[in-house]
Amino acid sequence: MSKHVVISGGGTGIGLACAKYFAARNARVAIIGRREQVLRDAASAIEHEFPDAPKVLPFATDLTSAEQVEALRGEIDERFEYIDVLINAAGGHVQRRFPSSTYADGLAGIARRWTDNFAMNTLSAVLLTEALLPKMRTPGGRILFMSSIAAYRGSGAGCYGAAKAALHPYCFDLAKTLGAKGITVNTIAPGYIADTEFFGSALSEDQYQAKLAETLNNRAGLPSDVANAVGWLTSAEAVHITAQIVQINGGAERGR
Ligand SMILES: NC(=O)c1ccc[n+]([C@@H]2O[C@H](COP(=O)([O-])OP(=O)(O)OC[C@H]3O[C@@H](n4cnc5c(N)ncnc54)[C@H](OP(=O)(O)O)[C@@H]3O)[C@@H](O)[C@H]2O)c1
Repeated sequence: MSKHVVISGGGTGIGLACAKYFAARNARVAIIGRREQVLRDAASAIEHEFPDAPKVLPFATDLTSAEQVEALRGEIDERFEYIDVLINAAGGHVQRRFPSSTYADGLAGIARRWTDNFAMNTLSAVLLTEALLPKMRTPGGRILFMSSIAAYRGSGAGCYGAAKAALHPYCFDLAKTLGAKGITVNTIAPGYIADTEFFGSALSEDQYQAKLAETLNNRAGLPSDVANAVGWLTSAEAVHITAQIVQINGGAERGR
């Protein structure tokens, strides 16, 4: 029987790799992001690569908006009888995405950066998860959050790592609430992952080499590294793994 999988941020990077992982295993996959064309292109690419998989369903939604997530809930309700796997991969570092001129100077700018990072990384995952909780398969449902190495060691400006770290206690609390229903809830905290829009082409060669040098295996993480871990954590075999944070960073968080 096909699994039903919902992936936020499924149009690019890590989320797209997860979408491909599940399409390759014949799952029915919904992908969510704000840019409709990016989602359509991703859906076409997946369908091209896995022509026998069920058609990918793209949903253009800003997950920081309660109204938009409410509307999305209605659309998913119509198309999915239940959800086996929910992957919250949407997120990013607002300072990497928007030029600093977007932000006012002083405290107003600081307030906006912290609020935007919280909305993009914490609230987006909380709203989607709360909206879809009643649809999770019981028992057997799997919920995943995407944190970051920054939740452990900071990210320069504080606000991105703090927004990711906020997902950890939410994950633990959900795992406690949902454990008796046979639903597991876990979090993945990647280190540097290449080939995503997170860094895009923003890293210089020196910065890239510095990221590699932090790892114990002298290698950049790939979206498929994360997707493979997601695949296992959401499998039936991982039934006894819940309320965990799994770091995927080639040992970079421990340091050399
Ligand atoms: N790449 C890394 O090195 C790294 C390391 C640690 C953690 N992470 C985390 O891993 C996750 C996946 O990131 P990635 O590396 O794959 O980068 P990415 O390619 O930029 O993917 C982020 C995705 O999130 C979507 N998104 C962002 N804000 C959204 C919103 N408000 N509503 C709906 N969708 C939204 C984006 O699509 P739209 O722009 O179209 O909305 C995009 O598809 C993120 O949570 C990121 O913080 C990445």
